[in-house]
Formats: sequence, structure tokens, C-alpha cells
Amino acid sequence: MSIISVKNLTYIYNEDMEDEVIALDNVSFDVEEGEFIALIGSNGSGKSTLARLLNGLREPTMGEVLVSGIPTTDSKRRFEVRKSVGVVFQNPDNQMVTTIIEDDVAFGPENLGLPSEEINARVDWALECVGMSGHRKGTPFRLSGGQKQRIAIAGVLAIKPKVLVLDESTAMLDPRGKKEVMDTIERIREKEGMTVIMITHFPEEASRADRVIALDKGKIVIDEPSHTALADVERLRSYGLDAPLPARVAYGLKQRGVELGEIVTARELAEALCRLK
Ligand SMILES: Nc1ncnc2c1ncn2[C@@H]1O[C@H](COP(=O)(O)OP(=O)(O)O)[C@@H](O)[C@H]1O
Ligand SMILES: [Mg+2]
Repeated sequence: MSIISVKNLTYIYNEDMEDEVIALDNVSFDVEEGEFIALIGSNGSGKSTLARLLNGLREPTMGEVLVSGIPTTDSKRRFEVRKSVGVVFQNPDNQMVTTIIEDDVAFGPENLGLPSEEINARVDWALECVGMSGHRKGTPFRLSGGQKQRIAIAGVLAIKPKVLVLDESTAMLDPRGKKEVMDTIERIREKEGMTVIMITHFPEEASRADRVIALDKGKIVIDEPSHTALADVERLRSYGLDAPLPARVAYGLKQRGVELGEIVTARELAEALCRLK
């Protein structure tokens, strides 16, 4: 069974009103356990709406979302669904609830009604996962943006979700903060084998995923291994998206008659250029 199964999902805001918006239009895909998916798409393409549907914060207008086979509309099992899919949002400041870091990370497991030893163990583990163990007793206010976002991720991890969804969680960070968060995601994937769906505007970040799903005006227009998805500069452009810089350089050279093949990473570009000599 897929860990997430999205079937003919349509989501309409303000249905039958003048300002009706079809945010998701007949979207279908499955996510298998352990996958690392980048969800891309220009502004307003429906990415955040999809994130909220994946953990039952919103319910489908048509179609369905199943989490480990449970429909997100099953009101008796809503709690199970919320617990299975943890979402980290864009602005870390809106995700901090207390003034001491360990309390912040403990907030989720406390709401699950777990015994205090278990909560403690989860806080330890979650802070370790994001590389912030040394800050346990500190306050979130003095942290950098990247550190705050790592604490927000720890808070979601402490719930032990099966799937971690990050909705442009690096968008507000400086380059160093972005790198911290990306490295954290990679560490969690390596150590815990967690299923990750990362919504991002940055093609270089998407290239770290195994699979890329692109939305355009609420429809899935690409669902492929990340390498082939991100190497196709022209197709990405047609949806208002950028390819990673090395792919764009290779594309520019191709137009001048220099064929380098399918290039996504800087390393691939460097190797292909070396082979030219
Ligand atoms: N609360 C809302 N009410 C009405 N329309 C909304 C609301 N949230 C988003 N939308 C609209 O739904 C579409 C998809 O938005 P969103 O899912 O936020 O896209 P993305 O995250 O890809 O930028 C956009 O046209 C947006 O204006
Ligand atoms: Mg969004």
C-alpha cells in the first residue's frame, strides 16, 4: 500500500461564488514509503493547497487523499492522519509557540498525551536529528532563521510522522540558513529513511530529490525522476520554472552547437566540459 495516495483530487476555493478558484484540478499520484519528492510549480499553482490536503487540514472538493489507506475525510481517524503527515511551513516565527526550545519541540508529543519519559526521549531525538541538541534549554528568539527552522522541523519530527512535508521551508532564509535546512533534511533521510515531500522554488534544492512533481494551474504537468525533469530547460520554462544553473548552461551551449547530454548538477557539467577536450 502506498503511504499517500491522491486520487482525482480537485480542490475549489469559494465554490459557486464569483471569486471561485480551482486550486487543484483532477490531480492523481502515489507516494511510496521512503521516497524523496520535490513539488515545484510557479506561484499560485496549488502547492500549498495540496500540502494542506495531504494532512487533512482541508478536505477534497472532489476525489480523495488516502494516508496509509485511510481517507483524510474519515472523521474518526482524523487524528491518525494528522499524526502521519507532518507539515513544516515557510515562516519559522509563526511556528514557535513557547519561549524555551525544548518546550517548543515537546508541544506536539504533549498534545498526543504521551508519558513524560517518552516526550523527553522524542525531544532528545528530534533535536539530535536537526543538529540542535546543544540548544535544548535556550530560547528560540536568539536563533538565526536557519536554526529556527530546524527547531520547527524538530517540533514536527517529535510527532514521529511517517511523511514530512516542507512547504517552502527555506524560502525566507539566507544562503547559509537554506544550506542548514537542506543538510538537515538529507540527514533525516539518511538516518531515519523518512518519506519527504519538499515544496520548493529553488531548482537546485529540487535536484536533491529522487522524483519531481510539477504543478501548473492546479494540474500535474511533470511527474518524473528528478534528473530528467530538471534537465529539460525548455519544458520547465514553459511552466514558468527555472532549471538548475548547470542545466541552463548546458542548454545555452547546446544552442551554440555543443551537445553535452543530460546535465543537472555542477559536477556533471564539469565532467562533460572536461570530456570535450
Ligand atoms: N484561502 C484561499 N481562498 C481563496 N483562494 C485561495 C486561498 N488560498 C489560495 N488560494 C488560491 O488558490 C490558488 C493556489 O494557491 P496556493 O495553493 O497557495 O499556490 P502555491 O502554494 O503554489 O503558490 C491560487 O490561485 C490562490 O490565489
Ligand atoms: Mg505556497
